[in-house]
Amino acid sequence: MIPRHIAIIMDGNGRWARERGLPRIKGHEQGAESVRAVTEACVELGVEFLTVYAFSTENWKRPEAEVAALWALLEQFIAQEIPTLMKNKVRLQAIGRLQELPESCQHALAEATAQTGANTATTLVLALNYSGRSEIIDAVKALCAEVAAGELGVGDIDQEKFAARLYTSAHPDPDLLIRTSGEMRLSNFLLWQLSYTEIHVTEKLWPDFGKDDLRAAIAEFNKRQRRYGGI
Ligand code: FPP
Repeated sequence: MIPRHIAIIMDGNGRWARERGLPRIKGHEQGAESVRAVTEACVELGVEFLTVYAFSTENWKRPEAEVAALWALLEQFIAQEIPTLMKNKVRLQAIGRLQELPESCQHALAEATAQTGANTATTLVLALNYSGRSEIIDAVKALCAEVAAGELGVGDIDQEKFAARLYTSAHPDPDLLIRTSGEMRLSNFLLWQLSYTEIHVTEKLWPDFGKDDLRAAIAEFNKRQRRYGGI
């Protein structure tokens, strides 16, 4: 069985670079290659949604030069990938507090999401300036505003209405979460959406993660029994 939605915490770019005596950005560049390969694998396998954690709200704490290089890399990736995304029928989307991204990055994203919007293979979702807690706060604010405007009663708020105010309202919850480089943490990623998601942690560093690793993660996922709290 192929998971409908795979989410990935792409960790280990810095370590990959350090192991080779390279600057950290080289690890991020190689990480972008892994995004390309894994997206292609998702298309080949028929995965409907792939959400990758590319920049967290906490990543602003990194040295300014690394933050700037990451945004430049993302912008370059978004612009350069359009022909391949079109060829493979990949629809590009982004989630996060996108209004705080560098303007040129916002423009590149707007263009790429518009151009690829009607594509029908995998939807590649970039989590950019994303944090699960901020997303929950934004949803709570949206609900409060509707209650204050008299459009919604407090008693009518349920899981479905809450989820409909998240950035991911149009996406199914992930079936499988992959985290590379061995860390056993959620790191503020998709906190609401991962409630029943199967977790696969691999020691591989993200720049070394490829199509075969994705297939192995899916094979392991298929051995799991998902019970959703039942027996
Ligand atoms: C974590 O590795 C990775 C990031 C914070 C950035 C992820 C970005 C990419 C994979 C590059 C571009 C993405 C796209 C979508 C083109 P780390 O730097 O925390 O690694 P470390 O823990 O080994 O230091």
